[in-house]
Amino acid sequence: MSEFTLQTPTQEPDLATAMRVVYQWNYEPEVEELRRLYVKATEAQWIAERDLDWDRPIDHAKFATTPLGSALPVERTSYWQSLPEATHWELTRRTAAFRLSNFLHGEQGALMVAAQLVNAVPHTDAKFYAATQTMDEARHVEVFAKYIRKLDEVRPIAPPVKRILDATLETDDWLKKLVGMQIVVEGLALYSFRQMRALTEEPLLKDLLTYVARDESRHHAYGVQYVERCVPCLTDRQRAELEDFALEAARTLIDNRNQPALLSVVMQIWAEVGVDAGELFACMAREREELTRDMQKGRRLGPVQGFVIPTLRRCGLLSERVATHFHAFLRDNLGANLVGEDVEEFLEHIPELPRDTAAWVLGSPA
Ligand SMILES: [Fe+2]
Ligand SMILES: [Fe+2]
Repeated sequence: MSEFTLQTPTQEPDLATAMRVVYQWNYEPEVEELRRLYVKATEAQWIAERDLDWDRPIDHAKFATTPLGSALPVERTSYWQSLPEATHWELTRRTAAFRLSNFLHGEQGALMVAAQLVNAVPHTDAKFYAATQTMDEARHVEVFAKYIRKLDEVRPIAPPVKRILDATLETDDWLKKLVGMQIVVEGLALYSFRQMRALTEEPLLKDLLTYVARDESRHHAYGVQYVERCVPCLTDRQRAELEDFALEAARTLIDNRNQPALLSVVMQIWAEVGVDAGELFACMAREREELTRDMQKGRRLGPVQGFVIPTLRRCGLLSERVATHFHAFLRDNLGANLVGEDVEEFLEHIPELPRDTAAWVLGSPA
């Protein structure tokens, strides 16, 4: 074991955050839904070492079904198919480790935000719930780190993920922390976990995501139930500020303008394995039409329109003003794939939130 020190070589420089700490002298249950959610969370605690079978080696063939987050199915290009089997595995495991590392770092951010909420939220039931979420997030950090260790190594955080975590940790407004973390970051995470869990056939990863996604559906429910209660108490200006915070958070996490930076990481991974990423991209460009043929059937609502925006609407944070900004931003990103030519049509297609988010997250995407 390495020598114990107060300053560790892997830590970041301190981030100064502003947070008000609130004592609450009323210990009686006050917000019934939150108290129930807290009780449910205490009953649903699980133990990574006991409840998951870590001795199973990662099944290479089954792991190949894990989505890697690329917009096009790379594995169907003739270039990919010309590569040896061993190279497929090297590329898949390293790329997946990059994606999972960002889930892992996001979990660390969630751990610290949840701990801040214990201090900052003014209602006892909400402090209790944030305490269980803090425990959940510690376990999520534990399991993702452990799984990545089996696969490859932990890769550095992607800059957009770091930016949104910093902003959520730095704000002195606890409602912005809730909106940034429980609604936007965890909303997008739920969507990704659901997709990865449904598609991957790798048993350990599937089990791990089942446990994590169940916890996350509760964290999201906490955000929804608390924020929708708080919003009617805000001034118009405070509400507009919250809406803008949500918009910026979503923009930071999924904006296309971040793609070149992410692509360069992926290219670096490919170079490590000795594969020419330039050739692969040229091949993808040549075969694009064939690769996208199946994908074009039926436009799908993405994570923002399909989940984050419905959550904001439910919480009373989707004015026409911010909906117009969301529509413009998504149109820039998705082009013809966006459902809704104008804001009215865009709003008409926004679905209701699933009645049972836990069941939804464990179901399979259509
Ligand atoms: Fe989590
Ligand atoms: Fe969470």
